[in-house]
Amino acid sequence: MKILSVVGARPQFVKLAPIAEQLTARGDEHVIVHTGQHYDINMSDVFFRDLGIPDPDVHLAVGSASHGRQTGAMLAGMDEVLEEHRPDWVLVYGDTNSTVAGALSAVKMGIPLAHLEAGLRSFNRRMPEEHNRVLTDHAADLCLAPTEVAMAHLAHEGLADSSVLVGDVMTDVLLKVRDTVADRDPELPPAIDPSGRYYVATLHRAENTDDPARLAGIVEALAKVDAPVLLLAHPRLRARAAEQGLDLSQGAVEVADPLPYPSLVRAAMSSAGVITDSGGLQKEAFLLRVPCTTVRTETEWTETVDLGWNVLAADVSTLAAAVTRPAPEPTQAAPYGDGHAAARAVEAIAAGSRR
Ligand code: UD1
Repeated sequence: MKILSVVGARPQFVKLAPIAEQLTARGDEHVIVHTGQHYDINMSDVFFRDLGIPDPDVHLAVGSASHGRQTGAMLAGMDEVLEEHRPDWVLVYGDTNSTVAGALSAVKMGIPLAHLEAGLRSFNRRMPEEHNRVLTDHAADLCLAPTEVAMAHLAHEGLADSSVLVGDVMTDVLLKVRDTVADRDPELPPAIDPSGRYYVATLHRAENTDDPARLAGIVEALAKVDAPVLLLAHPRLRARAAEQGLDLSQGAVEVADPLPYPSLVRAAMSSAGVITDSGGLQKEAFLLRVPCTTVRTETEWTETVDLGWNVLAADVSTLAAAVTRPAPEPTQAAPYGDGHAAARAVEAIAAGSRR
């Protein structure tokens, strides 16, 4: 079986890692296409290095642009790639512009399409990611769902026959990395005592970074938290704050560059809580049993909220209190699978090939 993976943004490199490992173990052919959506070393290269992912076979180097231009540039680059490699399947991951571009290119060339992390819904149609994931699920021949909730969304949209519950591949990676970093000390800036209380924060979504009053309100709330807040600043956050003349380093907030994946996991593990608008980090916090506060009006990972480990605090006036709330009741629940999702995903694709 020959699979061509299309990836481009940071969370997709994490999802690719266990899939690449499985395909290699089975002796399948795997072509990796990097669209170039993320291109900074600490947003891309370090993930390939730390997670042992083979170098991309093709790099489209599209870079940043408006959504239409960026997606269009990927689409324009993909025809040639698919003609050259003629895979049995194109595999796309998550919900970014790279996902929808990879999906469209496959269906236009008549190549079977599988979507990993299918069926997630925020029901917020202002999010570009919501459109990306709905369009991709409906284009896909095979929807590989991470959770029962995602399966129910797919069934509701008439996609039950093309859907398979495989579990969450980010859980595969997290559980493995957690065990390898457990013995190290967290790498924190000198101003933060690793044995004391601190929080880990990330913010990158347009709804939080692009409105100056909102971003200023979030930073002000974080500044008042009762322990240091390590703010791992995505390039978009730094760029918007600079344009808005906003100093991110206020009060409790300690600004740093995004961390490589193992260092992020280690820092989150020892933290008193995570504050984020990322999807992946909400789930990683839950798996590490660290309370999470999500700076959004909704989440695709509803299980984290239902089990009490994640609180939505879109209203900045509620943010500081949410962050410092007491830890929830312990739980043994495992809604994201057992750490073997990638093996199931690859088997489901192989079974699809045999049909
Ligand atoms: C994208 C995904 C989002 C995902 C996030 C993870 C879409 C629509 N969104 O958002 O779902 O959660 O990746 O990070 O695809 N930039 C750099 N260097 C880089 C990458 C980006 O400086 O390596 C800056 C550029 O100014 C760019 C901005 O960040 O315009 C936004 O990057 P972009 O890839 O468009 O979207 P993300 O916000 O990262």
